[in-house]
Amino acid sequence: MLPLFSLFFSLSLSVLCTAQKLIVPGTVPLDTAGNAVTAHGGGIVHVNNTFYWVGSAVGCCDDTLIYSSPDLVTWTNHGVMYSNGVSRPKLVFSQTTGKWQILGQVGRQLDIASSTNILGPYTQAVTPFSPFGVNFTDFGLFEDDDGQAYTIYSADHNNLVISQLSADRLSYTKVMHQFNGNGLEGPAIFKDGNTYFAMGSHKTAYLLNNNVIYSAQNLTGPWSVQSYIAPFGTRTWNTQSGFFLTVKGLLKTTHIYMGDRWQLQAIQNSTYVWLPLTVDAVTKGVQATWQDAYSIDVKTGLVLPALGTKYEAERGIMTPGAAAYVATCPTCSGNKIVTNISANGSLTINNIVGRGQPQWVSFHYINTDGLFGDLELTDPVYASLTIQRNTTVSLNGATPLFLPQMDSNAGIVMSVPLQLNLTRGRANSITYSALDHQVAGDLDYIVVY
Ligand SMILES: *[C@@H]1O[C@H](CO)[C@@H](O)[C@H](O)[C@H]1NC(C)=O
Ligand SMILES: *[C@@H]1O[C@H](CO)[C@@H](O)[C@H](O)[C@H]1NC(C)=O
Ligand SMILES: *[C@@H]1O[C@H](CO)[C@@H](O)[C@H](O)[C@H]1NC(C)=O
Ligand SMILES: *[C@@H]1O[C@H](CO)[C@@H](O)[C@H](O)[C@H]1NC(C)=O
Ligand SMILES: *[C@@H]1O[C@H](CO)[C@@H](O)[C@H](O)[C@H]1NC(C)=O
Ligand SMILES: *[C@@H]1O[C@H](CO)[C@@H](O)[C@H](O)[C@H]1NC(C)=O
Ligand SMILES: *[C@@H]1O[C@H](CO)[C@@H](O)[C@H](O)[C@H]1NC(C)=O
Ligand SMILES: *[C@@H]1O[C@H](CO)[C@@H](O)[C@H](O)[C@H]1NC(C)=O
Repeated sequence: MLPLFSLFFSLSLSVLCTAQKLIVPGTVPLDTAGNAVTAHGGGIVHVNNTFYWVGSAVGCCDDTLIYSSPDLVTWTNHGVMYSNGVSRPKLVFSQTTGKWQILGQVGRQLDIASSTNILGPYTQAVTPFSPFGVNFTDFGLFEDDDGQAYTIYSADHNNLVISQLSADRLSYTKVMHQFNGNGLEGPAIFKDGNTYFAMGSHKTAYLLNNNVIYSAQNLTGPWSVQSYIAPFGTRTWNTQSGFFLTVKGLLKTTHIYMGDRWQLQAIQNSTYVWLPLTVDAVTKGVQATWQDAYSIDVKTGLVLPALGTKYEAERGIMTPGAAAYVATCPTCSGNKIVTNISANGSLTINNIVGRGQPQWVSFHYINTDGLFGDLELTDPVYASLTIQRNTTVSLNGATPLFLPQMDSNAGIVMSVPLQLNLTRGRANSITYSALDHQVAGDLDYIVVY
């Protein structure tokens, strides 16, 4: 009896662990103490089988924090490493000095703090300076296979520049390339085989746009003409570019796009969107394809999409007499979508199968309240832009939870996740409605993971 029981126990434990090892784009992971991870605009280094994530506490003080993880899912908070209002901090090691360094933007200059230990304490190493005399903003860092480190940044708010750092990572040796007049920000670089890729977003402050990518065989160029990194119209899945994490596994090297989904109303509530990239070996085309949830085996480098069960919105029940209705939608699942869902008329999906534990549920919606297409900071509608619909979700009649749904684009179905504690069996029902007297996002379908 006993061995059988323990076998069952260990099996169910491993199932549980697998369920918890998901990366869910559009969420804020909790650290091992149960607190929200605050590491925006940051970067990750992989040392001694541990991932170290440095980032900043946006919306308060831009303090620099470091988290560590063995698997990119379980994160331990090591606290504030440096407190000098650094934005977009990145970590880099110098073999010549044996020191770890946090580099980032302070004002319009580069700030560098050093430590003999990756987990600090860090102290300022140089007086912040302007590389080659330019106004320095939006900084990214890339370390090449040969140990040379490069920064990519917005120079004078107009040109992206790639410059090589000195071996001690305290000064610059030379400019490698300048992307003239493209006004890009949030830049990052990765390398796949012998090809370098550089990305950036357009200058629309915290509003999201269609980010672009270039490739080259040498950091000095020639660089390709830009193309979009995600399907046009998704505004890079409503994120801004920030960093590329390369996971060199035994079977595969996987590059992960790390973006920030900025929440304008409360910037500290911004979420993280990490998506694995596909790199076409022949064309060098790069795409960040949406995944509701996935896991990555950091040993093999393989990405495994999570398996879920789909429920179509048009199969749900609308409040009788309400204004919601099923509309035709060529780009939607089943070519149908439920629209005009106001607080007076909700949509309920019944017979949802649950496991009796918290599960991720993704809501696939369209919200075309905002702009159709890309935008410029000078756009007159910038100030009045409505960026989200405010939906509520109630599981089995419980207190409704808030589900913000940023504007998408005509025909573009986007997805936002919510964790719900479904009861075991097929008796769950999810009621989808709008907050106050607003209108909920048009619902295409949900997927329960
Ligand atoms: C990684 O391991 C080496 C060898 O044990 C050690 O010298 C180094 O300090 C470690 N680095 C970090 C960041 O833990
Ligand atoms: C950077 O920009 C500010 C304001 O736009 C300006 O006052 C300053 O002179 C600029 N600095 C450099 C180094 O270009
Ligand atoms: C990149 O170009 C520079 C000169 O522009 C050259 O010195 C260097 O060898 C090139 N690197 C590679 C990997 O081809
Ligand atoms: C931000 O998050 C806090 C804590 O979860 C929440 O109370 C607040 O309503 C959120 N603000 C917005 C605008 O979403
Ligand atoms: C949408 O709902 C509102 C009430 O919330 C109603 O006045 C309007 O007629 C509805 N639109 C359509 C096309 O049914
Ligand atoms: C929704 O219902 C409330 C109260 O029943 C009513 O006052 C309001 O006019 C309704 N709104 C719409 C848009 O039908
Ligand atoms: C949703 O809530 C935000 C923040 O409260 C607000 O700015 C926005 O106008 C709301 N959206 C709609 C469609 O009412
Ligand atoms: C989820 O619900 C089950 C009962 O269905 C309960 O035993 C469990 O404690 C709940 N878990 C959380 C995290 O709320």
